[in-house]
Amino acid sequence: MHFLITAGPTREPIDPVRYISNHSSGKMGYALAEAALAAGHEVTLISGPVSLTPPEKATFLSVETAQEMFDAVASQIAKAEVAIFCAAVADYRVAEQADEKIKKSSDTLTLDLVKNPDILGSARGAFGFNGFLVGFAAETTDVEKHAIGKLEKKGCDLLVANDVSRSDIGFDHQENEVIAFHRDGRKTPLPRALKSEIGRELIRLIEASI
Ligand code: PMT
Repeated sequence: MHFLITAGPTREPIDPVRYISNHSSGKMGYALAEAALAAGHEVTLISGPVSLTPPEKATFLSVETAQEMFDAVASQIAKAEVAIFCAAVADYRVAEQADEKIKKSSDTLTLDLVKNPDILGSARGAFGFNGFLVGFAAETTDVEKHAIGKLEKKGCDLLVANDVSRSDIGFDHQENEVIAFHRDGRKTPLPRALKSEIGRELIRLIEASI
């Protein structure tokens, strides 16, 4: 099968030297890409800026902003049977990027932010994706409630939730602990383990669910 996987953060420029982003390292998404390849699948990996080396056998697209990630997914998703959205996409970008470095001339600075396109939320509609759709949810409270809400709203077959308020898993850690919520109401908890192992478990879970 062909897997499309998004990974890493996006960077939303404020001016030529500053940006809005988050702590995603890409480790979880790259682990999924490695696991899918090792299981004999084809992989298109679309990644925001990270310091990891992409797997040699993957088709690799490097992006910076949410809009670039949206465009890359739009151009690649038709060939995928499985799409996994693991990237931590910035929900907002600055309304107008400054052409020059903003000077610190006043004590406060207000930035107008506008919403970025929802890439996962466009899969079933704008992208017309009919394959197996996997979303992630990075939550700090009411993990189960928010995860099930996202699964239903975005038309996912599987929603993988992690509690990013914990200091031992999630963003930029070697390990993760997740609960995979299935469309039919089942849930599969994957106890804390290296992201490489969580990646393998998730690929097995997806294969068994198709
Ligand atoms: O990269 P690591 O350091 O290894 O960390 C892994 C991780 C914590 C980033 C990963 O496990 C994770 O939780 N990824 C999802 C992060 C996220 O942005 O979650 P969210 O709950 O804000 O978004 C929900 C879903 O919508 C996600 O599938 C996200 O990729 C997608 N999304 C969000 C916003 C947007 N504009 N477009 C999207 O496609």
